[in-house]
Amino acid sequence: MPPGATIGILGGGQLGRMSAMAAARLGYRCHVFAPDAGSPGMQIAAATTVAPYEDEAALRRFAAAADVVTFEFENVPAATLAALAPLAPCRPGVEVLRVCQDRVVEKEFLERAGVPVAPWRPVRSPEELEAAVAAIGLPAVLKTTRMGYDGRGQAVLRRAEDAEAAYAALEPKPLVLEAFVPFRAEVSAIAARGADGVAAVFDAVENRHRNHILDVSLAPARVPDAVAATARGHAVRVAAEFDLVGVLALEMFLLPDGTLLGNEIAPRPHNSGHWTIDACLASQFEQHVRAVAGLPLADPARHHDAVMANLIGPEGLAAWPRVVGDGRLAAHLYGKAEARPGRKLGHATRLLPLGSLADLAEADITAGL
Ligand SMILES: Nc1ncnc2c1ncn2[C@@H]1O[C@H](COP(=O)(O)OP(=O)(O)O)[C@@H](O)[C@H]1O
Ligand SMILES: [Mg+2]
Repeated sequence: MPPGATIGILGGGQLGRMSAMAAARLGYRCHVFAPDAGSPGMQIAAATTVAPYEDEAALRRFAAAADVVTFEFENVPAATLAALAPLAPCRPGVEVLRVCQDRVVEKEFLERAGVPVAPWRPVRSPEELEAAVAAIGLPAVLKTTRMGYDGRGQAVLRRAEDAEAAYAALEPKPLVLEAFVPFRAEVSAIAARGADGVAAVFDAVENRHRNHILDVSLAPARVPDAVAATARGHAVRVAAEFDLVGVLALEMFLLPDGTLLGNEIAPRPHNSGHWTIDACLASQFEQHVRAVAGLPLADPARHHDAVMANLIGPEGLAAWPRVVGDGRLAAHLYGKAEARPGRKLGHATRLLPLGSLADLAEADITAGL
């Protein structure tokens, strides 16, 4: 795509916003399509469409205005991308959305790509749940197959008596039961893949969650080299299996014996890759733009170690003056209208000399963040 061309982005959140910022750096324009006016992505877009994802006329106009279409969150209806596909190149394609919108299809896909996952069973009825608990054992995690994020749509079952209430409470059905993974760490890797099939993968990172929401990412993950290589290899294999043009994050669990189990695929830039904005030559967002625009990918090497902390909800907003006032932090705010509890409002990244994170004492890792 030549400079000045337009990237259409479905979704108005912070991932689209940061993608649009990366696109602007490369001389592209972005057209953000989302149901909510004034969303973080729209605030910085060259053009916007405020319409429901089902509005066919609006989608036609959007496709006509865009040289390529992408998405910034995977719960855009697959039918929306399918409607756009004949009208404009869609990267990634609708098949990627279909897989990542359904945890059962996603697990089957991961297994096919050679990434092991925790034992699981589909749960379409209370009887199937009972059989699944018998097969997998407890504790286990019951999840909706669709529309879950930031820990929403899941419940941990510790005792057999927990099953009935959890089954009734979780919507939409159907569900899936997974073995509870006694992980030593959560690790993710972000792979980009260009239109030419060439992949570039960032260093694997270690993720800490609070209330099921990503809290802190450490780049690189403090794991043996072989584990990091396996994590990155898994992400690249998943991208290749999709024939992906774009970026994806693969979330994994690291077991005490060094095994990595695949958890989720996010077929877009991911919160655990925000550190790349400040610690790499080209961020995950730029790689995404490069891929969908048909440009060669940039070198994903890390020039600093990094610790990224999310600013979440009212506490996150309260921390902002301190974060932005600390001239040694890279401070990012997303322009959200409301600081509702549990919402990701921004993040801060602390850069460290290359290779120094592994030796940092626990108390110093998030100091100042
Ligand atoms: N099977 C599991 N065993 C242990 N912890 C889990 C399991 N599934 C999810 N979790 C925890 O919950 C977090 C969110 O779950 P995930 O499946 O990634 O859903 P989402 O990110 O869409 O909310 C994970 O990052 C992990 O901390
Ligand atoms: Mg997740």
